[in-house]
Amino acid sequence: MFMLSLLVFCGSVWPSLALDNGVGLTPPMGWLSWLRYNCTTECDKYPTECISENLIKRTADAMASEGYLEAGYQYVIIDDCWPEKTRGADGRLVPDQARFPSGILELSRYVQSKGLKFGIYEDYGNLTCAGYPGVLGHEATDAATFAEWEVDYVKLDGCGSPDSDTGYPMFGQLLNETGRPMIYSCSWPAYQSHPNYSAIAKACNIWRNYGDIENTWASVVNIMTWFGDNQDEFVQMAGPGNFNDPDMLVIGNSGVTVDQARVQMAVWSVLAAPLIMSVEVAGMEPEFKEILLNKDVIAVNQDPLGKQGLRVWTGPDKQDQIWHRELSGGARALAFVNIGETAALASYTYEQMKLPSQDFTVQDLYKEDEEMTLKAGEDFKVKINSTGVKFYKFLPILKKTEEALSRENEI
Ligand SMILES: *[C@@H]1O[C@H](CO)[C@@H](O)[C@H](O)[C@H]1NC(C)=O
Ligand SMILES: *[C@@H]1O[C@H](CO)[C@@H](O)[C@H](O)[C@H]1NC(C)=O
Ligand SMILES: *[C@@H]1O[C@H](CO)[C@@H](O)[C@H](O)[C@H]1NC(C)=O
Ligand SMILES: *[C@@H]1O[C@H](CO)[C@@H](O)[C@H](O)[C@H]1NC(C)=O
Ligand SMILES: *[C@@H]1O[C@H](CO)[C@@H](O)[C@H](O)[C@H]1NC(C)=O
Repeated sequence: MFMLSLLVFCGSVWPSLALDNGVGLTPPMGWLSWLRYNCTTECDKYPTECISENLIKRTADAMASEGYLEAGYQYVIIDDCWPEKTRGADGRLVPDQARFPSGILELSRYVQSKGLKFGIYEDYGNLTCAGYPGVLGHEATDAATFAEWEVDYVKLDGCGSPDSDTGYPMFGQLLNETGRPMIYSCSWPAYQSHPNYSAIAKACNIWRNYGDIENTWASVVNIMTWFGDNQDEFVQMAGPGNFNDPDMLVIGNSGVTVDQARVQMAVWSVLAAPLIMSVEVAGMEPEFKEILLNKDVIAVNQDPLGKQGLRVWTGPDKQDQIWHRELSGGARALAFVNIGETAALASYTYEQMKLPSQDFTVQDLYKEDEEMTLKAGEDFKVKINSTGVKFYKFLPILKKTEEALSRENEI
C-alpha cells in the first residue's frame, strides 16, 4: 500500500497519464517526404521528385538495402498532397489516381514486405495545409480507412483545426477503436501558444512542439534555441510511448555541412527526438550517411529510459551550449555545441556540465578522440569546430565498496 502510493506520487510515468497503445516506446525512426519533396505533384515535369508511389517504393528499397532499416530507421511516411482533391462518392479519401495508381493498401504492403512500416498524413481541419481534404466531419471513416490500409503511423496536422483540445483526443480514440496499433503523431501544440502537455501526452505518442524545420542551418539553430529556452514546459512529458518532436533531420540535404549535421544528430539524440530523415536516401553522400547510421549516437537516442535531456549550460549569446541526457545504467550523454563562427576551446567544470561527483570513462561518440578518464572534480577540456559539436558518453567508474571487496575475497 505504501509502495503503491509512493509510485503514484513519485513515479514519472503513471499509466493513466500517458498514451498506452504499445508503440513508440523509443523515439520513432524513419523517413518523411515533406522537407525534401514537400508538395511536388507534377510528375511529368519532376518525375523523380513528385509525391508518388514510385518515390515511396524507391525510398523503401534504399532504406532496406543501404543499411538504414538495420540501423533502426523503420517508418516510411507520406506527408501532405497524396489524396485526390475530392473524396469519393462514399465519402472516403481517395489517393491521387495518377500518382498512386496501385492504391494505398498495395503501397503499405510493399513497404512492409521490406521489413519497414508505413505511415500517412492527414489534418484536423476541413483542408490539409496544402489544400487537400482534411478529416473534419469524416473522422470515423478516415480512422477506419487507415486501419484498412494497414497503416502503422498517422501524422495529424493542425491547419484549420476548429478545436485541437477536443479533436486530437477524439481522433486518437477512433484510431484506438480500430484495434490497429498506430503511432499517433500530433501537430497539436505547434498551433497553440499555451499547450496543455499533460492532455497531449495522454492522447498522442509524439507531438510537434514548434514550427516546421527548413533546409538551413539557421532553422536547425532556431529550433534548438527554442527547445532549450522552453524545455521546462515539456521535458518531463517524455518517456516510453511519449516524445516531444523538434521535426525532421535535415542531414544529407544541401542546407547543412557535415559538422552541422553532426550537431543536429547529437542534439536530437539528447532530446529523445524522433529521428525522421527527409532526403533522397538512395546513394546518399557517405559522410552524411555515416552520421545517420552512427550506432553509438542512435543508442543514445533510443535509450530505453526514454528520458529527455536538457540544455544545462550556455555561454555568452548562447554561442556555446552543453546538452546533457541521463541514460540507463547511470551513464550520461553530453553534447558540447558551438554555434559561433570560430572554433571554441573551452574548459568546463562538473558544476557547468551538471555531472555528479564521481569518476567517468569518457567515449567520443563521433570517434575522433581516444577513450579518456575524467576524475571527479577535474575540468573537462573540449575543442569544438565552428558550427560543430563534440558528443561524448560519460560512463561512471564504479568504486567497489570495502564490503563488496571483502565479499569478493571470500569467494
Ligand atoms: C519544395 O521543393 C522544391 C524542390 O526541392 C523547392 O524548390 C521548393 O522551394 C520547395 N517549396 C517549399 C514550400 O518548401
Ligand atoms: C468546415 O466546412 C463546413 C462546411 O463548409 C463549415 O460549415 C465549417 O465552418 C468549416 N469548419 C472550419 C473549422 O473551417
Ligand atoms: C487502446 O487503448 C487501451 C487503453 O488505453 C489500450 O490498452 C490498448 O492497447 C489500445 N489499443 C490500441 C490498438 O491502440
Ligand atoms: C490539462 O489536461 C489535464 C489532463 O487532461 C487536465 O487534467 C487539466 O485540467 C488540464 N489543464 C488545464 C489548465 O486545462
Ligand atoms: C572539424 O573540422 C575539421 C576540418 O574540416 C574536420 O576534419 C573535423 O572532423 C571537424 N570536427 C572536429 C570535431 O574537429
